[in-house]
Amino acid sequence: MDTKSIHGMWSSRLAFILAASGSAVGLGNIWRFPYLASDNGGGAFVLIYLGCILLVGLPIMAAEILMGREGRMSPVNTLRKLTREGGHSGGWTVIGWIGMLAAVAILSFYSVVGGWTLHYVWLYVAQMFGGAPITDPGATFGALLASPSTLVFWHSMFMLVTLGVVAMGVEKGLERAVKFLMPLLFLILLGLLAYGISTGKIGQAFEFLFKPDFSEVTGDTLLAALGQAFFSLSLGMCGIMTYGAYLPRDISIPRVAVTVAGMDTTIALLAGLAIFPVLFAFGLDPAGGGPGLIFTSLPLAFNDMSFGIPYAVAFFGLLFVAAWTSSISLLEPPTAFLVEKGNMSRKTSAIIAALVIWAIGLVTALGFNVWQNVRVFGRDLQGAIEFVASDIMLPVGGLLIAIFAGYVLSRRITREQLSHLGDFGFQAWRFLICIIAPVLVLIVLAAKILG
Ligand code: PHE
Repeated sequence: MDTKSIHGMWSSRLAFILAASGSAVGLGNIWRFPYLASDNGGGAFVLIYLGCILLVGLPIMAAEILMGREGRMSPVNTLRKLTREGGHSGGWTVIGWIGMLAAVAILSFYSVVGGWTLHYVWLYVAQMFGGAPITDPGATFGALLASPSTLVFWHSMFMLVTLGVVAMGVEKGLERAVKFLMPLLFLILLGLLAYGISTGKIGQAFEFLFKPDFSEVTGDTLLAALGQAFFSLSLGMCGIMTYGAYLPRDISIPRVAVTVAGMDTTIALLAGLAIFPVLFAFGLDPAGGGPGLIFTSLPLAFNDMSFGIPYAVAFFGLLFVAAWTSSISLLEPPTAFLVEKGNMSRKTSAIIAALVIWAIGLVTALGFNVWQNVRVFGRDLQGAIEFVASDIMLPVGGLLIAIFAGYVLSRRITREQLSHLGDFGFQAWRFLICIIAPVLVLIVLAAKILG
């Protein structure tokens, strides 16, 4: 018998696929992936990244979805339910808490960066109507970071649109938004890709992204690739688990997991194939561009290329849409948790969660200016929050999820949830989730802590 989540249910397989891909496809694909690839030697990084997706990402994604669908609640209460019913230690509930804390921490800085994309859309739209051109992108970006009021304004706008969707609920908010936004994202990306091809530099981009040079691979490359796999697939923070809680019982988990991971990877690669030709065509060297790559390097090309300004609006619009559908999945778990406390409506719960996260986001925003000299773990405030949340909490969360799904949860439950897999497929999943994924994550975590 299928139970329903009290928060609502996806109306179809497509709805889940769009929502989960919307969560996965985000700044991680279009902002983080290109600069990580260029800073880590291109092709070799991409290959290792693909390996991490297959061996670690996919099995953990299936585990998150199945745990969510078994529990049908927000992560903390899903874990409570699964441990209680299975007679396991309640200590495993920590998975839900880590996940929710990670979601709160990630959204706090994600919203500030999402605000940058809105600011840039605004700057280029203004330019279309005669506003001042961005002649020195480094200075423009620097000025944005230096201004607390601008950062906080756009951070607030971004949080508001995220809240607007989540407050409306699963069917009327999340599902409606992704059904419109994901096709839009795909269309813009195809347009930018066509432009990339028209520059005549697509061959160079291919070579850069797919020709491996293993001499450049170091331990750091492995760390970066695995960390990026977690971040990009939205794993380890129970967002996909929350979406799994709204997934009807008859839908095949392996099939949706493969589709979502495939979409995420395809879009990261397509974004690379759209961005790098433009950089190459304008003689810009992507290597060492760092997090500023697309905010400082690309705008150099926008001024000189034909249709540069509409291109810029489309590009930052794409970034914004991608960030928006991801931030929804970060606000949903804490909102669902507050609703389950029992005495607040979804709207009130979403507003409270958004307000708290917005306030934490001020630390990131002010960390770029007022508190720019503050160092935590040798990093600026944004860097420190991003490091703890995505490089530590996501892998730790993912590791615990793998162990829980592989060793603690009864095999009857996992077999039933993954009933669409044949026996060989199920054994393969068990092997990946019990051995390969935990060992790889442990190696990476150990290297990170020792390094
Ligand atoms: N996957 C998103 C991206 O690639 C980021 C994200 C991480 C979203 C974790 C939700 C949870 O941008």
